[in-house]
Amino acid sequence: MKLLHFSDTHVQLPGWRERPLDELGPLRALATVELWKGRGKLFDDAEEKLRRIARIGGEADHAVCTGDLTQLGHAEEFARAREALGALANDASRFTTLAGNHDRYPWQGAPSRLFEEHFPEQQHTDLPSPLRVRIVGDAALIAIDTVGRLAWPVIARGRLCKSDLAALLAALHAPHLEGLCKIVIVHHAPLLRGGRADWPWHGLKGARALLRVAREGGADAILCGHIHERFVHEGPPLVVNAASSTELGKEGYFELTIRRGRIERLEERKL
Ligand SMILES: [Fe+2]
Ligand SMILES: [Fe+2]
Repeated sequence: MKLLHFSDTHVQLPGWRERPLDELGPLRALATVELWKGRGKLFDDAEEKLRRIARIGGEADHAVCTGDLTQLGHAEEFARAREALGALANDASRFTTLAGNHDRYPWQGAPSRLFEEHFPEQQHTDLPSPLRVRIVGDAALIAIDTVGRLAWPVIARGRLCKSDLAALLAALHAPHLEGLCKIVIVHHAPLLRGGRADWPWHGLKGARALLRVAREGGADAILCGHIHERFVHEGPPLVVNAASSTELGKEGYFELTIRRGRIERLEERKL
């Protein structure tokens, strides 16, 4: 089977340069500073690029997006991201995604539920587990939320708690997953290129424990994003960071070929 892995599409508001800051709210006004500093220009065409990725993903057996679908976690960005994903968004058997830190900026003064509202299909799990477990062909995908209910601009840290790790180990040992290629899906990368740890305000709390549990449970790979630098770190488990698939000059994704419950081939593709 073919599995497409992309990430951090950061679909943003069209015409954000003309939007009054008070329309975006005080927190988004702060995040918008990042856009003006240069980030906005890098993602002006993100929506169109996501449309192209979705078309390619539609030809694979399954596509995975490891979070940060949006730029400011704005309702309009969620609607646009979903629309750009087209038929893929409707079909949980063909597409798996989770929220990144940008998708969890507070909305109307409260923790945001916009990800859940725009991607209700993603609640589905094939195993009774606190985590989302999807069985697709020869692979089992285990999604873990590393963001939590609330994220803020600038402080982009992720976290894993003990109960997540216990649930991961239990899922990896579940009899239903025997013989399948076990793939863990998170937003925050557990390490940087070359295996270094990320900065405390940007990295993943519990990263080492995640790597240990994944190894103990026989996970074949961890798919992640968040760090906008594409790399593969040899395992076990293999760590695959798809970076931003839509960022200007860095567009791309990974294609995994899975056969008999193992990753047979992993190829980077330019968009
Ligand atoms: Fe990102
Ligand atoms: Fe992120």
